[in-house]
Amino acid sequence: MTVPLIDPFQRAISYLRVSVTDRCDFRCVYCMAENMTFLPKKELLTLEELDRMCSTFVRMGVEKLRITGGEPLVRRDIMTFFRSMKRHLDSGELKELTLTTNGSQLERFAGELYDCGVRRINVSLDTIDEAKFAEITRWGRLPQVMRGLDAAQEAGLRIKINAVALKGFNEDELFTLAEWCASRDMDMTWIEVMPMGDLGNEDRLTQYWSLDDLRAQLATRYTLTDLAERTGGPARYLRLEETGQKIGLITPMTHNFCESCNRVRLTCTGQLYMCLGQEDMADLRAPLRASEGDALLEQSIRDAIALKPKGHDFDYSRQEVDGQMSRHMSHTGG
Ligand code: GTP
Ligand code: 5AD
Ligand code: SF4
Repeated sequence: MTVPLIDPFQRAISYLRVSVTDRCDFRCVYCMAENMTFLPKKELLTLEELDRMCSTFVRMGVEKLRITGGEPLVRRDIMTFFRSMKRHLDSGELKELTLTTNGSQLERFAGELYDCGVRRINVSLDTIDEAKFAEITRWGRLPQVMRGLDAAQEAGLRIKINAVALKGFNEDELFTLAEWCASRDMDMTWIEVMPMGDLGNEDRLTQYWSLDDLRAQLATRYTLTDLAERTGGPARYLRLEETGQKIGLITPMTHNFCESCNRVRLTCTGQLYMCLGQEDMADLRAPLRASEGDALLEQSIRDAIALKPKGHDFDYSRQEVDGQMSRHMSHTGG
């Protein structure tokens, strides 16, 4: 019996997010530059190494595994990895195997994902207007994602739509998106935009739409009830009483949730980031490759968790962007 992973602030770490590639077939304006330089493929952990990493975390108490990217489904042969992770669901050690995706490849992979034990997926989608979708994702095409959503539901996957709240961009879709999700029986979560990436010609302060404000707008049409239920992530949920629909809010800016953080992030090169909003990280690839047994890796994981920071320092409150991270979201997978 191994000792659970507890950080210096007495938070139990039970959730691992794994970015399996830094590549993506979209170029969302708040996430990537259009001309991104990606890592050489030889830098990536192999699928076998990813398996060993994740299996070690599962042995150490991780119960929820979320696969991210970049776009996880563009990694070659990624289904082999999902298929091998299924054994941890079957053994009962892992409670949830899931992914966050842009939806572009779901038409191809939805059925296989279900067969691998995935039951619930998060799809990033900020608008259901075709022209706006092309504008925000630069390279994405909405009909392809829509076909992906259809395929996912046909395969039996439950969908949660994640929308980044962007002032002047999807404010006018607050009700449209809610109604569309309700009509398709999909859950929905809004996310406050965080100051990450190179921000070259991006202006986070102008883009930033606080979820306090979003909530107030929702309240003009619906009676809102806060719910106690959790999905193990940072979202807090409320119910629209008139329709019964649930809406999740992820509020790193207005209501910091770091206190209840239960997660760490592994990059596709084997670096463990202890916080989305801090630079602290530990290289796990070297200890993984240094020996065939996992003792060294386990010790490196414990040492890394012992350095988990208290939280992020993102702040727009002084009318300027503070706590900014130059790291791209695609590096750690959000
Ligand atoms: P559920 O399992 O549905 O609860 O998902 P989740 O919220 O854990 O995962 P998802 O990939 O949908 O996360 C949504 C977004 O929330 C991420 O892309 C990040 O933008 C944000 N987020 C998740 N974890 C953290 C965190 O620890 N800190 C901050 N600041 N933001 C986070
Ligand atoms: N702030 C908030 N969310 C972001 N995402 C990407 N960049 C940002 C940002 N700067 C979201 C994506 C996706 C998830 C992986 O992270 O929309 O839902
Ligand atoms: Fe790709 Fe997601 Fe980043 Fe958009 S937010 S560029 S879909 S990784």
